[in-house]
Amino acid sequence: MKMWAGRFRQPLDPEFERWQRSFPFDQRLIQEELSASRAHARALGAAGALAQAELDSILRGLEQIGQQAANPEFLQDDEAEDVHHFVEKQLVALIGETGYKLHSGRSRNEQISTDLRLYVRHAIDNLQRSLGELLEALIARAEKCGVAAMPSYTHLQPAEPVLVAHWLLAHAEMFFRDCGRLADCRKRLNQCPLGSGAVAGTTLPLDRAAMAADLGFDQPTANSLDATSDRDFAIEFVQALSLLATHLSRLAEEMILFSTREFGFVRLPEAFSTGSSAMPQKQNPDAMELIRGKAARVIGDATALVATVKGLPLAYNKDLQETQEPVFSAAETMQAVLSIAAGFMAAVEFDYDRMHAAASSGFMNAMAAAHYLVARGVPFRLAHEQIGRAVQWCVENHCELQDLSLYDLRRFAPEADQDFYSHLTLDAVLGCHDVEGGTAPARVRQALAEARERLAALRGELHAHA
Ligand code: ARG
Repeated sequence: MKMWAGRFRQPLDPEFERWQRSFPFDQRLIQEELSASRAHARALGAAGALAQAELDSILRGLEQIGQQAANPEFLQDDEAEDVHHFVEKQLVALIGETGYKLHSGRSRNEQISTDLRLYVRHAIDNLQRSLGELLEALIARAEKCGVAAMPSYTHLQPAEPVLVAHWLLAHAEMFFRDCGRLADCRKRLNQCPLGSGAVAGTTLPLDRAAMAADLGFDQPTANSLDATSDRDFAIEFVQALSLLATHLSRLAEEMILFSTREFGFVRLPEAFSTGSSAMPQKQNPDAMELIRGKAARVIGDATALVATVKGLPLAYNKDLQETQEPVFSAAETMQAVLSIAAGFMAAVEFDYDRMHAAASSGFMNAMAAAHYLVARGVPFRLAHEQIGRAVQWCVENHCELQDLSLYDLRRFAPEADQDFYSHLTLDAVLGCHDVEGGTAPARVRQALAEARERLAALRGELHAHA
């Protein structure tokens, strides 16, 4: 039996009937639907709208549906319009007409808003746990790198040497921010729409605070029009995921680039690579390429969501049914991506010799050379010019700055002295970036210890939600 057939004289067009159903995808929400239904049933009981025996029978029926839902065959249903209709149908099949009483004083408009919030909250908890594992992999790698150095790039041109650990921690920073964004989203979404009715608020004296507490929400939503039509939480969630996906895509891009023969900084783990059916020599970075590619999908989900809500009048409109699939797609995509990324980062190997060689050549000490002159009183603009000319000469003569004799050097930089050379070693160049957030080894050691502490704090917060 349909949830709304009374007013209609004609049956639905069969194609339209099939097409408008959301059950094929919103069946993912069955456990959330059952939890919300239990909370509503208890509130109905407390309000005297259900006799104790009816309440008991409804709760038992919902429990049984929950158990059966583990079986995919149970969810085969070509009639159910959506997950709300499906649960009602099953409940009536199990306990008889009392099952219809569950819908007293509620609307699917508040139910879907509640179910989707519960889904996103749960997804955030899982994603944060996986982000914690990715951060663990990155930080553990960074701890193992010691003072190994590599080039850093601007414009993808060699810039200055940095510690490998400093580079890994740069990526960790982005993931810490992603965790924070998800936590913010969780805080804002954690209000309970139940009791909002279809649009104007329920007509039964339901204890909204009790329903909210029952479902682990901080409080009931403040406005029934807003609660039934708000999808900010879904938009925020998927936009946070699109940024996370973007960060992972940048990490993936670097892994792909650094694993090329030309860079040779990274050795791809075989367990996360594939070969070519045509070229026998190939080992391809598919894991990283797919992570880069999946970002496009999640960015698309975020765009679809915000475009759906734009221009909708208050309150509920059926367009809102279209907000579900992008949420599922983004959550499921990123859950899988995070797990692959953590596995990859734990397994990938670095070629420290190649990194060291690349960090020790290519004039990456030129800025340190200019600053050496500045320390001897040469204005920076002039020092820059002098070292620039020296570099030009070295390029023509196929050598590095540290290969210049003091005699040749002084033709460009008259203030230079014998100690010039000790300021140009890799250690000296790394060490001179001795500032909070800089790559001097002592600073990186401190940053690493702080990252460890932040990860421990994050895990503590996640534990509190578990
Ligand atoms: N399947 C619907 C959705 O996801 C549930 C709400 C239906 N409400 C309505 N008034 N038709 O949006």
